[in-house]
Amino acid sequence: MPIPLSAPDITEAEIAAVTAVLRTPHLSLGPELAAFEAAFAKYHRLAHAVAVSSGTAGLHMALLTLNIGEGDEVIVPSFAFIAVANAVLHIRATPVFADIDPVTLNLTPSTVEPLITPRTRAILVVHTFGIPADMHALRALATRHSLVIIEDACEAIGAELHQRRVGGFGDLSVFGFYPNKQITTGEGGAVLAHTQAHADRLRSLRNQGRIAYAADIVQSQKAVDWLHHPEIGFNYRLSDIACALGRVQLSRIGEILSLRRAAAERYYALLADIPGLQMPPLTLPGCTISWFVFVVRLPQTAHRASIQALLSDRAIATASYFAPIHQQPAWRDLIVQFQPHLPTTETLGSRTLALPFFTRIALSQQEQVASALRQALATQN
Ligand SMILES: Cc1ncc(COP(=O)(O)O)c(C=O)c1O
Repeated sequence: MPIPLSAPDITEAEIAAVTAVLRTPHLSLGPELAAFEAAFAKYHRLAHAVAVSSGTAGLHMALLTLNIGEGDEVIVPSFAFIAVANAVLHIRATPVFADIDPVTLNLTPSTVEPLITPRTRAILVVHTFGIPADMHALRALATRHSLVIIEDACEAIGAELHQRRVGGFGDLSVFGFYPNKQITTGEGGAVLAHTQAHADRLRSLRNQGRIAYAADIVQSQKAVDWLHHPEIGFNYRLSDIACALGRVQLSRIGEILSLRRAAAERYYALLADIPGLQMPPLTLPGCTISWFVFVVRLPQTAHRASIQALLSDRAIATASYFAPIHQQPAWRDLIVQFQPHLPTTETLGSRTLALPFFTRIALSQQEQVASALRQALATQN
């Protein structure tokens, strides 16, 4: 049986909740949207959560809501999913790529600070692979330079820093629920906000610039003028079908995260003795990791593409997370004006290998992966 890279964990409870929505007329902007947003905000102990159609949409609207735009610079990691930089370009601001810490794979004050200029407006901090970035130090830096922070927690729902969940540290925080994530809505995302004004702006932008729908208006189905648009917005709504799925997934998050942690621990036991193979950190002081992916670093001498091919021959999926954004074909020509110097990003980008990792991965599947990887590495010695 092929072993996929990722797989959603859907139970009968999710299927029942989605089916129940289909038996109502409220497929969008209905009670499941309000319920999912309320549950998501409560889980994070924040006042406002706004569900959106994707993490990318969330990043786009977060930047707009913080009034970042043309002429502004936003410091971003290059060792990240490409949407992080694309969202900055979509609002006509300039992403400035910063290097990362080799252990946490996250931005740090020492990689960010040298890049701050009078044009810098924001730091977009990604909690890479579910490892929390040092938000206390980054917030202190941002405060010193009057910058805002957007937290990208798309890969890190449930991760904690000193017992505080990620998503509560940024001026706005963004989550993603693509099916490879810890919890999924099929496609989808959410933005956490601290203020009513930010939540209203996000809800307006999400819904073609219409006046924000408050949850109680949706519930009572009072008419809001559907053809009145005070500002230019987008269709970044998340359907009630998706919200029902997300609401049930969120109610199971404790179980999901602990199963993923157990799977990470099993990989440790199976792989840690392979010479030259570097494992991701299993624990870090003050941090609770939310296991999104399991990414090892291959020995410097290893040829990654051949290893991937050997695993693929055994029906084991792998991925090379992340090819640095500044080296992507789509970005290469856009950043000729400044040559990012990102040695950690570039070295890591060529050595990482994501192994199959999902909530219900079985020990027998992990054993197959470990033995195939062991043999593939042995053929290269
Ligand atoms: C760090 C990060 N930011 C943003 C996104 C974009 O989310 P989506 O695919 O839901 O648009 C992802 C998705 O994988 C991500 O990992």
